[in-house]
Amino acid sequence: MFAIVDARFLGPGVKQFEIVAPRIAKAQRPGQFVIVRLHDRGERIPLTVKGSDPQKGTITLVVQAIGKTTMLFNELEAGDAILDVVGPLGKPSDIEQYGTVVVIGGGVGTAIALPTAKALHDAGNTVLTILGARTKDLLILEDEVRRVSDETFIMTDDGSYGEKGLVTDKLRQLVADRPVKMVLAIGPIPMMRAVAETTRPGAIKTVVSLNSIMVDGTGMCGGCRVIVGDKSAFACVDGPEFDAHNVDFGILTQRNGMYREKEKQAVDRFKEHREEEVEYLRSACRMREAEKEFEGAGEHVAYA
Ligand SMILES: Cc1cc2nc3c(=O)[nH]c(=O)nc-3n(C[C@H](O)[C@H](O)[C@H](O)COP(=O)(O)OP(=O)(O)OC[C@H]3O[C@@H](n4cnc5c(N)ncnc54)[C@H](O)[C@@H]3O)c2cc1C
Ligand code: FES
Repeated sequence: MFAIVDARFLGPGVKQFEIVAPRIAKAQRPGQFVIVRLHDRGERIPLTVKGSDPQKGTITLVVQAIGKTTMLFNELEAGDAILDVVGPLGKPSDIEQYGTVVVIGGGVGTAIALPTAKALHDAGNTVLTILGARTKDLLILEDEVRRVSDETFIMTDDGSYGEKGLVTDKLRQLVADRPVKMVLAIGPIPMMRAVAETTRPGAIKTVVSLNSIMVDGTGMCGGCRVIVGDKSAFACVDGPEFDAHNVDFGILTQRNGMYREKEKQAVDRFKEHREEEVEYLRSACRMREAEKEFEGAGEHVAYA
C-alpha cells in the first residue's frame, strides 16, 4: 500500500498528492512516470512524477479529473492509501545545454513539464515558460513555474489573466525575438500539434510528451503504440517524449478516442455510484493495511 501524506487541490478538478514510495523517490528522473492502480478492481493509469523527496521517501503526483479513475483518485485525502504504484517508467527527459529554451505547459501539462523545466534551468539554460489556459481559474502551479523560469508568460483564451491569446501566439513572438534553440510542449494534443507546426519552418528542435493510452507501461501490451517518422514506437518505453516534428498526431488522436463511448458510460456509472465507489476504495485500503505482511509489496522499480 502507498500512503498519501498530503493532498490538496491546485485548481478546479486538479489535485496534488504526496505519496510514500521510497524506492521510486530515489530512482525517478524528470520526464518519467508511474503506473497507478487505486484498488484491486481498478484500471491502471499513467501519471507523471512531478517531483520527489528521497529523504522523506515521497513522490508527488498531480491528477486532473477527466474520467472515472482520475475522478475517484481525486476523492482521496491525506491518510488514505492506494494499492499499486509502479515505476519509474519511461525514458527520462534529455537534459542538455541548449542556451535559450521555451517550455510550454497547457492545463495539467504544466505539472508534467515542471520537473523538466527545473532540470533545464539547473543545467544552465535560459528557460522561458509559457503557460496557457482557457481562463485564469484553470492556471496551475504559476509560482512554482516562476521559480524555475527566467521569464514566464501567461496566455488565457479569454484574456482574464496575462495576455489574451494562444500559447502559439507568444511562441511565434519569442522565436522571432530570441535565440530559441529548443522547445518543450506538454498539454492537449491540438496544442502540441500547433506548437510543432509553429517551430517546423525554423527547424527548431521541439519535444512533446505523448499521452497515449497505456496499460502495462513496460512495452508488453502495445496499447501505447504511436507513429513517429515512418516507424511505430511505444510511448511507454521509447518515450513519452518524442521529436514533435515527426509525431503523427492524427493517429494519436484517433487511438486516444477509441474507447470514448465506454469511458463516457464509466463516468456516468461513477457519478451515479460515487459514494459506493469511494467507500469500496477506502475499505479495500483498510483491509490491505490490516494485512501487514503485504506492506510495500506493490512498489516495483522497473528502471534503476
Ligand atoms: C506518460 C503519461 C503521463 C501522464 N501524466 C499525467 C499526469 O501527471 N496527470 C494527469 O492528470 N494525467 C496524466 N496523464 C493522463 C492520464 O493517464 C489520463 O488522464 C487517465 O488515464 C484517464 O483515466 P480516467 O479513467 O480518469 O479517464 P478515462 O475516461 O478512462 O479516459 C479519459 C481520456 O484519458 C485518456 N486515457 C484513458 N485511459 C488512459 C490510460 N490508461 N493511459 C493514458 N491515457 C488514458 C484517453 O485519451 C481518454 O479519452 C498521463 C498520460 C500519460 C500517457
Ligand atoms: S503501455 Fe503497453 S506497450 Fe506501452
